[in-house]
Amino acid sequence: MGGKPKVFVSRIIPDVGLSLIREACAAEVWPSPLPPPADVLAAKLADVEGLVSLLTDKLDDAVLAKAPRLKVISNFAVGFNNIDINACTRRGIAVGNTPGVLTDATADMAFCLLISAARRVVEGHRYTIDGKWKTWEPLGHLGQDLVGRTLGIVGMGRIGYALARRCHGGWDMKVLYHDVYKNAQAEADFGARQVDLPTLLAESDFISLHADLNDTTRGMIGAAQFKMMKRTAVLINSARGPLVNQKALATALKDGTIFAAGLDVTDPEPPSMNDPLLRLANVVIAPHIASATVQTRNQMAEICARNLIAGVTGQPLPAWVNPEMVPRK
Ligand code: DGY
Repeated sequence: MGGKPKVFVSRIIPDVGLSLIREACAAEVWPSPLPPPADVLAAKLADVEGLVSLLTDKLDDAVLAKAPRLKVISNFAVGFNNIDINACTRRGIAVGNTPGVLTDATADMAFCLLISAARRVVEGHRYTIDGKWKTWEPLGHLGQDLVGRTLGIVGMGRIGYALARRCHGGWDMKVLYHDVYKNAQAEADFGARQVDLPTLLAESDFISLHADLNDTTRGMIGAAQFKMMKRTAVLINSARGPLVNQKALATALKDGTIFAAGLDVTDPEPPSMNDPLLRLANVVIAPHIASATVQTRNQMAEICARNLIAGVTGQPLPAWVNPEMVPRK
């Protein structure tokens, strides 16, 4: 009796976090680079009080039902669409995430995708390494200018704001945003204008998605929305793949309904090797790496560890998704 609380960590995370966890808990760490299969995860949850999960671990009510002692899920991500939060709250399980620390890294990646897609950087790289570069071409590789254009942010939270700040401050872009909430700071800082989604799609040169994935936002950008965009538009998604209907995106890119896209997320992840998107030149796809900097992942690991330890010791979580939950006995 009275030993360290048992926890399961579903992947090796940076040592800053793991060492904190190992000091405070009896931790089993899943050693493989691939996620534990669903049945293995469920079996591991049978007798633990805490779980460090990744966005690849699906934690729905059926899985939670197999975790009678679980007090806390600490997600190693700011997003938590992999977790049924209502079910956790109902069952008295605290959920933590890692907000704030990945804002800049993610906004940088969104901007990197924006400029790569607008200026056809990856297409040019492939052209070069394929030996197709024969001479300087007056009409070749023409992309889109950035300065003075209009940026449309869908979901003006921390990351949307950070991207808008970069684009307005550095490239003098006008900023439109679509969100259920007004962002007074963005309006004051760079004159951002809150508009409905059709207006944003029709008026923006660059459209960047930063919305949470939920039942309302799933598939929010589909064939009808692509038709509303400019033919020169560039779509950026560094949030969650299922916000976009990927089949409709491939069609829109192929038939020139929009100019290009830059994606850090797909649906599913990874995309099938038969996905038509992978055969298009006007899309840049990164393997969900927006938060992948050494510093950011270390900070995520630390918050994640502190959420876990707080949860297993009955303390308030430093970054708590469902503070209204009543802890289970
Ligand atoms: C998140 O944190 O939600 C990202 O998708 C991964 O860092």
